[in-house]
Amino acid sequence: MFIYTNQENNQFHLTNGKVSYIFHVMKNGQLGHLYYGKALRHRSDFSHLQTYDVPTPASCHPYEDDPAFSLETLRQEYPAYGNSDFREPAISVGKEDVPHVPNFIYDSFKIVEGKPRLEGLPSTYVNDDEEASTLQIVLRDQFLQAELTLHYTIFRDQPVITRSASLKNEGTGNLVIDRLMGASVDLPDKEFIFTHLAGTWSRERQVKERSLEMGIQSISSLRGASSHHHNPFLALKRPAATEDTGEVYGFNFVYSSNFLMQVEVDHYDMARLTVGIHPMGFKWNLQPAESFQTPEVVMVYSDQGLNGMSQAFHTLYRQHLIPKQWKTEDRPILINNWEATYFDFNEEKLVDIARSASELGIELFVLDDGWFGKRNDDTSSLGDWHVDFDKLPDGLESLAAKISETGMKFGLWFEPEMISPNSELFREHPDWAVGVPGQSYTLGRNQLVLDFSRPEIVDYIYEKMSDIMKRTNLSYIKWDMNRNITEAFSQVLSARQQGEFFHRYILGVYRLYERLTSEFPHVLFESCAGGGGRFDPGMMYYAPQAWTSDDTDAVERLKIQYGTSFAYPIYSMGSHVSAVPNHQTLRETPLSTRANTAYFGTFGYELNPLLLSEEEREEIEEQVAFYKQHRSLIRDGQFYRLLSPFEGNETAWMVVSPDQSEALVGYYKVLATPNGRKHQTLRLSGLDEGRIYQAEGRDYYGDELMQVGLPLPTEFNGANSKQALRGGDFQSEVFYVKSR
Ligand code: DGJ
Repeated sequence: MFIYTNQENNQFHLTNGKVSYIFHVMKNGQLGHLYYGKALRHRSDFSHLQTYDVPTPASCHPYEDDPAFSLETLRQEYPAYGNSDFREPAISVGKEDVPHVPNFIYDSFKIVEGKPRLEGLPSTYVNDDEEASTLQIVLRDQFLQAELTLHYTIFRDQPVITRSASLKNEGTGNLVIDRLMGASVDLPDKEFIFTHLAGTWSRERQVKERSLEMGIQSISSLRGASSHHHNPFLALKRPAATEDTGEVYGFNFVYSSNFLMQVEVDHYDMARLTVGIHPMGFKWNLQPAESFQTPEVVMVYSDQGLNGMSQAFHTLYRQHLIPKQWKTEDRPILINNWEATYFDFNEEKLVDIARSASELGIELFVLDDGWFGKRNDDTSSLGDWHVDFDKLPDGLESLAAKISETGMKFGLWFEPEMISPNSELFREHPDWAVGVPGQSYTLGRNQLVLDFSRPEIVDYIYEKMSDIMKRTNLSYIKWDMNRNITEAFSQVLSARQQGEFFHRYILGVYRLYERLTSEFPHVLFESCAGGGGRFDPGMMYYAPQAWTSDDTDAVERLKIQYGTSFAYPIYSMGSHVSAVPNHQTLRETPLSTRANTAYFGTFGYELNPLLLSEEEREEIEEQVAFYKQHRSLIRDGQFYRLLSPFEGNETAWMVVSPDQSEALVGYYKVLATPNGRKHQTLRLSGLDEGRIYQAEGRDYYGDELMQVGLPLPTEFNGANSKQALRGGDFQSEVFYVKSR
């Protein structure tokens, strides 16, 4: 439907009117890249898009009589190293004992309406086959006796193409894969700003930018999780592009473990983008008849700036990635006891919190860490998934029943992939921990990692979790992962298989998610990894929301949520109002600003409601009612970033309903400015120009709100205690805009 093929000149054109992706078979039988960008009119021949370079005396070339045909300068679809291309490749595979340069030659193609699932891996999907078309290109390396399939899916309604690759061993001996990337794209120039999301625990997904330069620039994770440090997201933005205008290419890797996203700019200023499982430490043995499937790369093209790119990701993930049942269902407003009690609780305290929160309209009570084994601090009991009767003498069932009596749903925290050295499980199965026998273990948060590459361990944890889920009728699970993986060895893999460990581990995590989410589809999963250490589309396939960060400070959250929104829908971001002074920054922000920030996410509370004043309770009751009234807008609306916290003292963003009839606008001013700007307005986005909207009691046309802007209350700029009615720093306002 969206794929043109020309079998005479072996050209392929994927287009949906928004984006075009064109490639062909080169004269050496390998695939050459021709174009990726804004949609082009289809024509029967695109050969002229292949630009041969003037041969240089220095370049190597496979054909003696055609020095211009050098892989060094040709743009390719899925390059190998070792021929005349000296850049980093997409594939490196060989036989165990015989040297060979991979040479995958075009064999055939197949078009599938819709999008086949990727076996064992999370990936985007279609709801019906009309929503996308998939092109599968089959290439063969005769010597290796291997079949390489490149999978391209183009979605009907979005400027989105997804890519992955699979390799099948068709021979009789083993193959060894050193590198098999999800996608490689050769762009003709380097005029881009490399834009990515970097940070650390408590400071995740800060927007970083740098110009592309000759050489390799990359982001990656080698931690066994997609990581707090680099999100598997990268945008290549034209220097002149803004939030709303200009060209941006966005890439996101649907994977939750070690990844590499790199751009190599060569000596001719061409830019090769490569995305995939990090080759460092990776080595996969492919037995005869076996296949290896790479995770998927989502590629978005936007000619409407960064907002256009983000909106394409958001729509794709809302419609084609998160579990189907959570697309339209409201997510409950929750209260989590972590910052209220940490490990210090008993049944009475928990039920009191739940009752008090229920009176405020909160819908779900989540019991966080510390309910199992003998876990009074973080030094023990991970893996002992049975209730701590000292804290909860009547068991989890009794607690669940009492929570239910308060009118609340019940949710529970697990850290399924971990084992404490001080645990019954470790005493019984010391070999279940990831590590090298005979060598010391490196601890992280006093804990070790369970070897999820072993199916029997995943099965064991499944039994424990599913049993509790059934007995307590759980509505929600927070699945945490609080440390990265060191000494990445499995005790059951042979020495030559150890390079498979990280990938096998994450496949085990996905398998457990798959079993639990398909058996308990009504249970809402929130992924978490010490805050936002695994906020990626791989997790989102199972868990439609993720705990964005352990940093709940409203000012910090502006940056974290702003950065996260580059790739992920706001309704995927767990965002809670917590107590002040904030537990991470000790900052005191107004309750209103904490809520105004948290509204733009999946809303909740992380405080002890029993410690609130009457006034605060009233305010929270209003907040809860406000979020309930607007949460379908937060869920389904189009999100626009307006002012960046990375660029100044003010942040603003808004969400507009799909029919443009209403919008919520968040405006935040971190530090007060005495006697500040006059006539300050906030220019909105995404409204219908000709429609009349009501905001702050006045009528405006959509174009006025977008061109002139919404006047900001003068109190934000007051010069003294009489005028600065907003009361100093950390002020904010959420405006509701409604068409008449
Ligand atoms: C890290 C999470 O991000 C927190 O919210 C909390 O669940 C703790 N772990 C519990 O150990």
